[in-house]
Amino acid sequence: MDKFIINGDTPLKGTISVSGSKNAALPLMAASILADGPTKITHIPKLKDIYTFNNVIRVTGTHVQFDEEKNELTIDPSHLAHTEAPYELVRKMRASFYMLGALLGREGAAKVSMPGGCAWGPRPVDLHLKGMEAMGVNIELEAGYVIATAERRLEGKSFTLEPSSVGATINLLLAAVLRAREFTIHNAAKEPDVVYLCKALQQMGADIDGIGTGILTVRGVDQLNSVDFRNAPDRIETGTFMIAAAMHPESEVTLTDTDPQDLGHFPDTFKKTGAKLSIEGDKIHIKAPDIIKPVSVKTAIYPGFPTDLQAQWSTMMTQAAGPSKVTDTIYFDRFSYVPELKRLGASMKLDKNTVHISGGNSLGGASVMSTDLRASVSLVLAGMVAKGQTEVLRVYHLDRGYEDLEYKLNTVGANIRRIGGE
Ligand code: EPZ
Repeated sequence: MDKFIINGDTPLKGTISVSGSKNAALPLMAASILADGPTKITHIPKLKDIYTFNNVIRVTGTHVQFDEEKNELTIDPSHLAHTEAPYELVRKMRASFYMLGALLGREGAAKVSMPGGCAWGPRPVDLHLKGMEAMGVNIELEAGYVIATAERRLEGKSFTLEPSSVGATINLLLAAVLRAREFTIHNAAKEPDVVYLCKALQQMGADIDGIGTGILTVRGVDQLNSVDFRNAPDRIETGTFMIAAAMHPESEVTLTDTDPQDLGHFPDTFKKTGAKLSIEGDKIHIKAPDIIKPVSVKTAIYPGFPTDLQAQWSTMMTQAAGPSKVTDTIYFDRFSYVPELKRLGASMKLDKNTVHISGGNSLGGASVMSTDLRASVSLVLAGMVAKGQTEVLRVYHLDRGYEDLEYKLNTVGANIRRIGGE
């Protein structure tokens, strides 16, 4: 398993191009199964989760071609013959569960493994299943699989997501666009990942009202055309690099190929740290503050503070000139990075779903363990400002969601070496 060796306390200076979004790409890939021919999706990042999902889709007989040079995916479901997503693949990547909505939408039948939990605890799919049943889908559970059938036109009228759920919104949309007569999702997720999916489905010929709002109404159509579609820039990678650029007082970084509109309220929160931010088109310029002001945050659904930036924010707050606290209201136990940061000298105390951070910590290098995607990147950010050498183990977690991470950070002055195959 690969690890990173990081020699810390280096300022970042220069320009980083942000890759395409993992969490926007996956629903677009699932939606391509609904089309009546080959769909081309551009700006797809070369990430483990994308390769895993390619293999999940191939199991159905769908042709998937990934032009890595051009970051372009071509997905052609014309030869789709199996409506199954097996456990050995779904367990590797939870978003494979989108195959339920996609296969139901296209074929009216699906046998999809229930996803497992993840590093920080259970990740239920009860809302996905209850929403499908509300639509009129017949759902049975057997030996860890969901076996679902759906006639055309399903007469179910609506379902309210409590809590709002990105994945459930996506799965219900994928099933409804070809199967429902008229179905409304209340308290639907408004994340850009959902908006990009709705716009792609609309381009394919779907009838969807309320895009970008919490009330989505779908009127089923008989077929969807294949389209060419460009994937979103990765908003979480963007936020991660903004935080990286604020953690060393001499850092000054420009991010390109971003979509600042997708960041919700994050830029306003970020500016409260004292970091200087200027936004121009797809470019975001960050100048680190001399001293980081402590800013407490509470995660929320979009456009609130993203839970996927929670670990990275806590890491930055270890460097702030005073105490702060970070509360995750989406995932109450997404704090596996805390004991690892404490090994680097951070002074933090976890109380249920809030971590209290003292601030003013000078961090010292140590060996630390990655546990999940966003916790891992927070350890890399910490190692980049820690004095001495930090060893981050099991960086395969990082490879799931950050394309060429060490290359991008090293080009602006970080000192990260990947050691393979330990
Ligand atoms: C998506 O996961 C993202 N994954 C996650 O990013 C992200 O953290 C999450 O949304 C929240 O923004 C992808 O897009 C592939 P949810 P998802 O359903 O859809 C509860 C990353 O790091 N819930 O919006 O699984 C759930 O427990 C990943 O890139 C139910 O109770 O998240 C949570 O508390 C990690 N029942 C809340 O809703 C359900 O049926 C939000 O989860 C579904 C969800």
